[in-house]
Amino acid sequence: MKTALAVSALALACVLATAVSQERPAAPAAPADAAAAASAARFPSYDPRYPPPPGTPPADIFQLSQNYPKTYANETFPWMAIDFKAFPNEYLRAVLNYCLEGNVDVDFRVQDNRVRKWYHAPWLHDDGNQFGGGREYRHGMTRERMSRPFELHTRQTGRGQNWAVGFYNDRGGSALGKVWLTADGRPDPAKSTFPPNSVACKLLFTDAPVEQVPYLQNGKVWTANIYPDTNYNKPRVNREMRLLQLDVAVKDPRLARSTGWVFGTFVYDGGSPGKTVWDRMSPVGLSWGDDLAVRTDAQRDGVFVNTALTEARINGFLVEQTGWDYGNRAYVRHHGLGGRVNGPIDSPVSSCVSCHGRAGTFANANDPVNRGRPMAMAVFTANKPSEYPMDKFGEFFKPIPDGAHVETQDGSQFMTTDYSLQVTAGIRNYYQNLRSQPQPVAAEATRATRGLKAAAPVDLSNAPPLPRVDRDAD
Ligand code: HEC
Repeated sequence: MKTALAVSALALACVLATAVSQERPAAPAAPADAAAAASAARFPSYDPRYPPPPGTPPADIFQLSQNYPKTYANETFPWMAIDFKAFPNEYLRAVLNYCLEGNVDVDFRVQDNRVRKWYHAPWLHDDGNQFGGGREYRHGMTRERMSRPFELHTRQTGRGQNWAVGFYNDRGGSALGKVWLTADGRPDPAKSTFPPNSVACKLLFTDAPVEQVPYLQNGKVWTANIYPDTNYNKPRVNREMRLLQLDVAVKDPRLARSTGWVFGTFVYDGGSPGKTVWDRMSPVGLSWGDDLAVRTDAQRDGVFVNTALTEARINGFLVEQTGWDYGNRAYVRHHGLGGRVNGPIDSPVSSCVSCHGRAGTFANANDPVNRGRPMAMAVFTANKPSEYPMDKFGEFFKPIPDGAHVETQDGSQFMTTDYSLQVTAGIRNYYQNLRSQPQPVAAEATRATRGLKAAAPVDLSNAPPLPRVDRDAD
């Protein structure tokens, strides 16, 4: 019986194969497809500790978009016609529209986008089980800094879990491919220089309820596989989350020879008259530098517009006016340090440019203990600006040039990853996971050519975990 079935299955397979080959006369497509399929399966999509339960429909399972292109289209980028210093809101809107085009139709399954493909950064699926922040299986979101009570709204009495997913356009995707698809399989941070007009967009969702954050009403809802609350040791469950913030980063060629990137952010405003969710995204501000010389109000808590800043544009209309009844309208209760640009879920002692400028990974590949160690991004021991140690200001707010290059921090050398913290975090996770295996001693090939005997592998299984790459220490 078994044999008969097998034979008929084989016969059927032959019939199908013939039918397919008749339909597809040209053979050359096959190797390219096979290569694409092989590379498509290379990096896992979600945290293996929290897999989808059996029977989950494939449409509910996140798939990493990892067919990283070697080349990219020559496009006209609408924001290039806009002066971001003079017209920050128009610039941000042009970038937002680009992030949404074709992605809204496919609910951000970005590889299915019919206008242009987008790509996810690999190795965010598994942080080594230290922080429970690996990509969840529904939408590929990673855990972000939690929102403390009252950070988002005066009615927010509880903590909010925040999770987010980011994606890069084809130019960004080409850089991801260079870093990750190497001959020896190890990521090469020195390849992480992003081409002009690389774009990254990030959707940030919260589980804070509408009753506590009224401007989340009528928003975009996703079900995500996250923790029941901010105790991250519990098993993950499916929960509804609401879109709160949307971040963008653009490698703008007008900033070549300085930071290279414009960072901007939006907050969802459920009470605004915009027709769609996307029309109701309200621009908080953008920034292309950290104004190292400006220390005015650096230790001032709360929300305000710092008019001394020259490398940021902030929308004053979102700044909370105490005592106003905002109803369902959005407002912000903090920015970054000294009024620098940061989003509602971000830490008030940092800024977009400050954290991302410190995207970098330990440079000495021959030091197995520190391999994958990220550069420190911010002073997370301070919870609010009034606690900020000003002797650290120069270190964390000095300008960092774009492009992969070596920077020194605390006497160690780091290879920067061109403002991409997803590249830094992926490299960190990759080496953290390797620690469960004995580490070959680097430069083994050199030893062999010199006739030296192989060195004993280094055991890092009990080494303290590499620091986390995250928006905060929690
Ligand atoms: C305290 C540090 C910190 C601050 C402040 C911060 N980020 Fe990030 N950001 C991160 C980390 C860590 C990641 C990577 C982790 C992930 O995406 O899962 C990241 C990822 C991103 C990405 C995805 C691409 C990339 O570069 O890795 C974008 C886009 C982004 N952030 C934009 C912003 C914007 C815009 C702001 C300011 C409104 C901002 N970030 C503020 C830490 C920070």
